Amino acid sequence: MAMLSLEKVSRIYRKGETEVRALDAVSLVVEAGEFLAIVGPSGSGKTTLLNILGCLDSPSSGVIVYDGTDLHSLDEVKLSAYRRDRISFVFQSFNLVPVLTVRENVELPLVIEARAKGRKFGMNDAQIKAVALEMIAAVGLSGKEDRFPRELSGGQEQRVAIARALVKKPLVVLADEPTANLDSKTAGEILDLMRDINAKMGTTFIFSTHDRLVMERARRIVSLHDGNIASDVSGTANGTRVAASAGGVSVAKEGPSPASGTRGSVSSEGGD
Ligand SMILES: Nc1ncnc2c1ncn2[C@@H]1O[C@H](COP(=O)(O)OP(=O)(O)O)[C@@H](O)[C@H]1O
Ligand SMILES: [Mg+2]
Repeated sequence: MAMLSLEKVSRIYRKGETEVRALDAVSLVVEAGEFLAIVGPSGSGKTTLLNILGCLDSPSSGVIVYDGTDLHSLDEVKLSAYRRDRISFVFQSFNLVPVLTVRENVELPLVIEARAKGRKFGMNDAQIKAVALEMIAAVGLSGKEDRFPRELSGGQEQRVAIARALVKKPLVVLADEPTANLDSKTAGEILDLMRDINAKMGTTFIFSTHDRLVMERARRIVSLHDGNIASDVSGTANGTRVAASAGGVSVAKEGPSPASGTRGSVSSEGGD
């Protein structure tokens, strides 16, 4: 069973008389452990797609099935719980809480979860701290636990945001242009970090970008154009090299996934 499938998902925005078809009957299958880039020019529907994948927005028509659960079948309360437990976001502008330290920012999703689940089912403070410290170490920020976001560089802030996204051990991390506010060297380092976590922890990543260097690090690239999937390419040369360097760690299977198109070079694909 696919971890995630979209069947003919459309999203239409209406502004008075005019209609914008931000997504036009998009079908996509994503398997657990994928490291997938959504690329395409500005206005092609990347943000709309990620928001729908993250249940921040609902499709005008079509079906989203996560891990066998049709999201449409869930009521508002169950959908919020589903989103909270399974789906994490990393944002272009990091979205850290400025008055909280690095550790407190990373702990936040677990604190919220513990509140929601109650004392009996949630983690206790010591467990939350241990998981947060583990993830802070995993993103290379040990020693910075007590710093505030304003004391960090952009790249470090995004590392904190990634650690925060990982503490719940989510099914998927969704990232909308996570490197857009970073210089290209730092952007590359953030992508390397995400790819490393994908290989070591098996976390599925779906991220949008129009940075060519960033997209070349993906193992599968879905190009959007005017709300349609223009191409879907898996197993790029670069992606294969990633898998080979993962040292036998089990990552997403090689080769095209069921939804994929032909193998091919990344360099001819879209983006702006
Ligand atoms: N809230 C909205 N209201 C009306 N139109 C929107 C809204 N959000 C996005 N759109 C339109 O939908 C299309 C896709 O936008 P978006 O998903 O933001 O693309 P991208 O992230 O690739 O730049 C664009 O034409 C955009 O103008
Ligand atoms: Mg966007």
